Amino acid sequence: MIRVGVVGAMGKMGQEVVKAVCDDKDLELVCAVDVNEIDSEVCPKSEVRVMGDLKSAILAHRPDVMVDFTQPKNVYENAIICLENGVRPVIGTTGLSDAQIEELNALSQAKGLGCLIAPNFSTGAILMMMFAKQAAKYFDNAEIIELHHNQKKDAPSGTAIKTALMMSESGKMTFESGNCPETETIQGSRGGKSYSDIHIHSVRMPGYIASQEVIFGASGQIMTIRHDSMDRQCYMAGVKLAIKYIAEHNDFIYGLEKIM
Ligand SMILES: NC(=O)c1ccc[n+]([C@@H]2O[C@H](COP(=O)([O-])OP(=O)(O)OC[C@H]3O[C@@H](n4cnc5c(N)ncnc54)[C@H](O)[C@@H]3O)[C@@H](O)[C@H]2O)c1
Repeated sequence: MIRVGVVGAMGKMGQEVVKAVCDDKDLELVCAVDVNEIDSEVCPKSEVRVMGDLKSAILAHRPDVMVDFTQPKNVYENAIICLENGVRPVIGTTGLSDAQIEELNALSQAKGLGCLIAPNFSTGAILMMMFAKQAAKYFDNAEIIELHHNQKKDAPSGTAIKTALMMSESGKMTFESGNCPETETIQGSRGGKSYSDIHIHSVRMPGYIASQEVIFGASGQIMTIRHDSMDRQCYMAGVKLAIKYIAEHNDFIYGLEKIM
């Protein structure tokens, strides 16, 4: 049995993870942490109650793996607490900077503890990114539109940034080939520029969970790769895969595609 803790356990993603862990015969939920609803029950199948402090929960319950779905401003500090206290983090929270990811990589290696960060745990979304990477070789122009619910705190999404990074690994310096010089009459109308000049446009609206389109263009043709998450259960197969992988490995992984 893999001993699992969840930080951000009372959030939208955290509650799904708690349920998925409680329903899996190979996983045991040993602790749950949140800054809200402290001491409440997390799942009818478990006696675990919400604790308010991550380090105390780790020391009291000794999880093998801690799954983090909290918020961008806390995730880095949480990961440090896990690694410093012998726990392998599985991080779904987005918003980590490149420098923070590198520092977590170094700390995970120094401690000899696995650490997995995935901006997206949905297997369909990972395939969308992999297909976009393949298509990037054949098109000189591409832009990304990501669409999320209006409670999402960071923009653009971690998935959009990761998609742009994977597309840039095709070796192309720019994906705005041949575009004429532009003036924005309304600031931000062309979105933000990411790796290899890929423009990312972020839409925030109730009704969406998480969607993304990668649009490729060339003379006389447009190709769109689109993925839609209809509910949060779509992430759970990926989260469980990540927990089971990292419990048995000591490497640092960025991106679920590395273990699919
Ligand atoms: N990787 C993925 O596949 C994926 C999918 C969906 C969402 N996300 C990301 O996951 C994060 C959480 O999303 P959500 O929709 O569940 O948000 P949410 O706001 O519903 O939940 C966050 C929870 O974390 C708790 N929290 C905040 N700071 C904390 C701290 N320091 N310690 C403990 N608990 C703390 C909050 O009280 C809340 O219950 C976001 O960054 C989101 O972008 C990632």
